[in-house]
Amino acid sequence: MVAGCAIQPRIISSFLGDCRFFQTTSIDDLPRLFRYTRGRNHVAMLTSRTFSGLTNLLFNRRTIEELPNSKRKRLRPGKVSPRRPVPAHIPRPPYVNSKKPPGIASGPEVHDKKGIECMRASGKLAAQVLQNAGTLVKPGITTDEIDQAVHQMIIDNGAYPSPLGYGGFPKSVCTSVNECICHGIPDSRVLEDGDIVNIDVTVYLNGYHGDTSATYFVGDVDEEARNLVKVTKECLNNAISICAPGVEFNKIGKTIHDRADKHHYGVVQQFVGHGVGRVFHSDPVILHYRNNGRGRMVLNQTFTIEPMLTIGSINPIMWDDNWTVVTEDGSLSAQFEHTILITENGAEILTQC
Ligand code: MF3
Ligand code: CO
Ligand code: CO
Repeated sequence: MVAGCAIQPRIISSFLGDCRFFQTTSIDDLPRLFRYTRGRNHVAMLTSRTFSGLTNLLFNRRTIEELPNSKRKRLRPGKVSPRRPVPAHIPRPPYVNSKKPPGIASGPEVHDKKGIECMRASGKLAAQVLQNAGTLVKPGITTDEIDQAVHQMIIDNGAYPSPLGYGGFPKSVCTSVNECICHGIPDSRVLEDGDIVNIDVTVYLNGYHGDTSATYFVGDVDEEARNLVKVTKECLNNAISICAPGVEFNKIGKTIHDRADKHHYGVVQQFVGHGVGRVFHSDPVILHYRNNGRGRMVLNQTFTIEPMLTIGSINPIMWDDNWTVVTEDGSLSAQFEHTILITENGAEILTQC
């Protein structure tokens, strides 16, 4: 997914909405002491930076690591392994090694027969890679090991792992654990019993990207988390089911938001679905929340839908790594994503095995 206003031009695209998205300067200074208030981001950020040493003194380590009302520990960055090589014969997308930060390209992805076949092939490969990655999810495995497996399977199939080198992203897949909303960087962190983890795979095959993600359970996951994951998946499926030529894109946001509301879950607003095809992120921007945006789906158009639902706050905070996005209150977030093709009768899910 991409972020929609431009405090952070390095970030894939830009922001949407009212720029509630901000970067922390230290991972030790998150919430508890400094509650986020609308319009006071900057102040909160500076204050927390100044007092981050003090917070360590005032609150012992345990208090900082643990989340309120939860046995779960706050997510922390691990060690990121060196960049994995891609054989020279595999074609790279144009953004790799380019200094220019990628954004959302204008113009929709609408395909002819040949383009549709290429989209089907990249979608299918992305789905197979995701399914295989999902089988690896269990307590004890590191997200870096998942990255390794994803990387290998993609290059074995003659494709390029789209995230690798995208705006400087250092790995081949995104792995977003627990309160991580999206864009988690695979690292040395071991998956623990009770975690949830979203794996987001994008492959670049024969000049076309296929983009898909799912949230998996690590061992025994409690009822609260299971339900969040279940409802998030339903949101995606319901949204896909209303897609067809001529349908307004804003129906997607309404469908997702209505269902999330029913379960009292939040819908993250700053990250959006997108056109996908020859370009990784292009028009249209797909909002997952209720909106009055204009624009209608077109026959043979491809785009993603990728709702992110949360149990608590929908406000994102970005880590110092400039990628990892977590909920401000540390509450769980789940996501599912498909690349779809608008057909005469509705929509075809391209990211299926
Ligand atoms: N796959 C993500 C999406 O759904 C984008 C990841 S970009 C990366 O749009 F650089 F973070 F990998
Ligand atoms: Co996407
Ligand atoms: Co994705």
